[in-house]
Amino acid sequence: MSKSADIMQRYREVMFPAATPYHGDNPLIADHAKDQYIWDIEGRRYLDFFGGILTVSVGHCNDEITERALAQLQKLQHTSTIYVNEIMVRLAEKVAELTPGRLQKCFFTNSGTEANETAVLAARMYTGNPVIITLRHAYSGRSMLAMSLSAQQPWRLGGVVDPYVKHVRNPYTFRAPKGMTPEQVVDLCAQDLEETIATGTEGRIAAFMAEPIQGAGGFIVPPEDYFRRIMPIVKAAGGIFIADEVQTGWGRTGGHWCGIEHWGVEPDIMTFAKGMGNGSPIGCTIASPEVADALAGLTFSTFGGNPVTMATTLATIEYMEAHDTPGNCAVQGARMAERLAEFAAEFPIVGETRGMGLMQAIEIVQPGNNNQPDAPRTAAFVDTCKEMGLLLGKGGLYGNVVRIAPHLNVSAEDMDTAMEIVAKALAEVS
Ligand SMILES: Cc1ncc(COP(=O)(O)O)c(C=O)c1O
Repeated sequence: MSKSADIMQRYREVMFPAATPYHGDNPLIADHAKDQYIWDIEGRRYLDFFGGILTVSVGHCNDEITERALAQLQKLQHTSTIYVNEIMVRLAEKVAELTPGRLQKCFFTNSGTEANETAVLAARMYTGNPVIITLRHAYSGRSMLAMSLSAQQPWRLGGVVDPYVKHVRNPYTFRAPKGMTPEQVVDLCAQDLEETIATGTEGRIAAFMAEPIQGAGGFIVPPEDYFRRIMPIVKAAGGIFIADEVQTGWGRTGGHWCGIEHWGVEPDIMTFAKGMGNGSPIGCTIASPEVADALAGLTFSTFGGNPVTMATTLATIEYMEAHDTPGNCAVQGARMAERLAEFAAEFPIVGETRGMGLMQAIEIVQPGNNNQPDAPRTAAFVDTCKEMGLLLGKGGLYGNVVRIAPHLNVSAEDMDTAMEIVAKALAEVS
């Protein structure tokens, strides 16, 4: 039996099966990684263009970050929130500096799920209203509340649903009713939001919560004026705005630190996780002072604000600043988008390519069949890329969206290598 087969057999005996690894019968068993590469247990090298789900933001085992994490590990590892450490304060100051508008006070946890839980709690306590409106095709995490917020059937388990969470139409132009222009899709979304508030609530809400670009939903980019149209409706119902930047944060969308800055609206709360710590477990909720102060009473997170995580995350953000990752995302994202558009013209299985910065998607469809999603071919494509040495992600409610999200400091050379493999793999599965 090969080493991989042995590990997989043991894995199946001791792990919950629900967390299914990618690549079916041939999963990748990771051994070690450096910068843009990851090696499997059999010694094969892969160019990583998914970064552990948009999380390894500036390269695996990045030397500068590892050095600072190690130094902190040897200095002070853990206190919990009952004692203060300066590195936590420095990170909060940095997050407040780089986020837009009046966002100022942070609460640190260990995951995006917890960051969103904290955001919803703060919104409910600030407004005194329990209703949260969020978008279809959203993914918000894996707690009971976060599964209620998530609007994708495969990710909703356990049968317990928060009755105060309402979902409205998302601006998914590619799958909108046939023939609609992006402007008409925005009209439809605004109308659905108004009707949901008028019919499914008492007319008042706590918050509208949305990802600036839906991530697990399949990198769904809204039309330019979508958020500007939605926000007055939210405010008129007394709601505040929670921007879930777990995937879009830290320059990923190009040109700005936060995805929402592209859309001309100001959130009252923002949540981060994933790429913020380059692989260190972190969740961060930042809010305007009055919203943060409304979360009055006792709450704490044992590992939230852990000095090692704080040091790793601060090192990651400082590395991003020094290397202008928002700028690199814009440049390399444009390079990728251009190639993807060529593939859309060349391969009939490509229904649409879309994205911003280093968050680009290919939606795979059945050619000549009304853009019906093709999940099996999507899986075959991603598997083929892996066999050719390139790691990509999957997503979308129908499992037919390829997600491409390399490290924020990706080079032009690696981008070209990846795009060559994508072209070859598209040809092979077409
Ligand atoms: C937009 C978004 N929010 C929240 C989460 C939950 O984050 P975590 O898995 O760290 O709990 C995710 C995870 O994929 C996400 O994509």
